[in-house]
Amino acid sequence: MEFSIKQASPEKLKSGCVVVGVFEGGKLSAAAQVIDKAAKHALSDLIAQGDISGKASSTLLLHKLNGVAAERVLLVGLGKASEINNKTSTDTLRATFTALNNTPAKDAALYIIDEGAGNKADWVIKQAVFIAAEHAFRADGLKSKPAKAATLKNITFATIEKPVAALKQALEQATATVHGIDLAKTLGNLPGNICTPSYLAAKAIALSKEHKSIKTTVLEEQDLQKLGMGSFLSVTRGSDQPAKLITLEYYGTDKKHKPIVLVGKGITFDSGGISLKPGAEMDEMKYDMCGAASVLGTLQAIAGMGLKINVVGVIPTCENMPSGTATKPGDIVTSMSGQTIEILNTDAEGRLILCDALTYSAKFNPDTVIDIATLTGACVIALGHVASGMFANEDKLAQELLAAGDQSYDRVWQLPLWEDYQPLLDSNFADMANIGGRAGGTITAACFLERFAKDYRWAHLDIAGTAWKSGKEKGSTGRPVPLLTQYLINRASR
Ligand code: BES
Ligand code: MN
Ligand code: ZN
Repeated sequence: MEFSIKQASPEKLKSGCVVVGVFEGGKLSAAAQVIDKAAKHALSDLIAQGDISGKASSTLLLHKLNGVAAERVLLVGLGKASEINNKTSTDTLRATFTALNNTPAKDAALYIIDEGAGNKADWVIKQAVFIAAEHAFRADGLKSKPAKAATLKNITFATIEKPVAALKQALEQATATVHGIDLAKTLGNLPGNICTPSYLAAKAIALSKEHKSIKTTVLEEQDLQKLGMGSFLSVTRGSDQPAKLITLEYYGTDKKHKPIVLVGKGITFDSGGISLKPGAEMDEMKYDMCGAASVLGTLQAIAGMGLKINVVGVIPTCENMPSGTATKPGDIVTSMSGQTIEILNTDAEGRLILCDALTYSAKFNPDTVIDIATLTGACVIALGHVASGMFANEDKLAQELLAAGDQSYDRVWQLPLWEDYQPLLDSNFADMANIGGRAGGTITAACFLERFAKDYRWAHLDIAGTAWKSGKEKGSTGRPVPLLTQYLINRASR
C-alpha cells in the first residue's frame, strides 16, 4: 500500500473515491462544503432528507456526483465536533477503511486530517496509516489458495490548505512503523513448528542483510553455558530445538551514545513444560514469542526510517516443553547473575529466560533497558486486551512510555513495583522462587525481573493481553511495535 500527502481541491481531484467528513447534526466539513457546492447541493439535500446523520462511524457512499471529478464520494460521520476524541477518531477511520474496502476503488483521497477528525493532524495521519495497513494485512501465507488481496492500493491524504512539514514526517514515520508491525504480526502468527528459535535467528540475520545498519549475532547453547545462563538453559532442557540468544545492534548515531536495549521474550511454544498447561487454546502459546517479534519489528521500523539513535535488541529464544530431560518443579538453578532460583512452576518460564537476558544486557552499557513479554495470564485479567502492563524503576521512564502510548494509541498502564510484593518470592531453599502465588501475579513476575535489572534504568511491558486476538479474529496485533517505535522517535529527537 502506498501513501502520500497532497494539496488539492476536493471536487477536482481525480480518484476512485474522495472521503469527506460530516458532523453529527448535518454540518459539513470544509471539504464536504466544497463538494456540496460543486455538486449543486447534493449533500445538503441528502442531509435534509435524513440520508446522512453525521453520527460517528456512519458512512454513505455516493457515485458519480455531477460536478465532482472523483468516481465516488464517501461521506463519513464524525460525530459531534465537541465529542471527538482518540476513540471516535480511530472508530471513524476503521469505518472509513471498511467502507473503502467494500468498493472496487484502487485509490482514495481522504480529506480527514485537517478538518473534522478533530484530533491533531499528525496523530490522525499515523492512525490512518496503521488502520489502512491493518485492513490490508493478510495472514494467508500457509493457505494453499491465498485470500484475495485488498484492491485499495493508493491512499492520498488530501488537504485544502498547504500541508505542513510535520505531516510529511508523521507519514514517513507511520509507513516505516507499519513495516515493523507487519513483520511482528507475520512472525507472531507463524506456527511453532515453523517459527522455531532457529527460524527467529535466521530472520534476525535476514534483517541485518536488509539493513546494513543492523549487526546480528547468534549465541548457541554452549555459549550460554559458558556465560553461566543456568536459568535460561533450564527452560530449554525439555526441547529438541536448540535455544538461541540473538542480539541485533543498530547504530543510527555515534557509538559514544549509550544504546537503548530492547529485550524480547522468545518462547516459540509454551506448553508449560512439566507444569503442563490445560489443552484448551494451548495453540495460542505459539504467540509466546510476540515480545521477540516486537523487538524485530521495532528494529525493522527504526532502521527503515534511519532513526538517529542506538538500539540493541536482545532475544532469548527457546521452547518450553515437557520430556524426560525437562526441568522439574522443585529444581534449583543458578542464573548468570549468580542468584539462585527454585523453579516451583515450570510454566513461569518467561522470567527464567528474561532474567539472564537482562543480566547479559548490562554488557551494552545501556541508557535504558525495556523488556517486552507475554509474561502473565494475570495481566489479561487485570487490564484485558486494551492496555499493556507497564512497570519501571524510574518514574520519568514510566511517564515517557505512557506518553508514547497515547501518541501511538498503543497504550500501557503502570502497575506498582513496591518492595511490599518482594517477600512473595521467598524460597526456603534458594535466593528466590520463580512464582509468587496467584495474588498480584503480574506484579510478582515484574518484581522477579527487577532483581536482575538493578544496574540500569529499566521498564517491563507485559503484553499478554495485547499481543494477539483470540476467537474469530485470532491473529497477532503487532503491538507494542507502535509504542516502542514512538518511544524511540521521541528519544532520538532530543
Ligand atoms: N506465556 C504465559 C503467559 C500467558 C498465559 C500469556 C496466557 C497469555 C495468555 C506464561 O509463560 C505463563 O504460563 N505464565 C503463568 C505464570 C504462573 C505459572 C505463575 C500464568 O500466567 O499462568
Ligand atoms: Mn508459561
Ligand atoms: Zn510463557
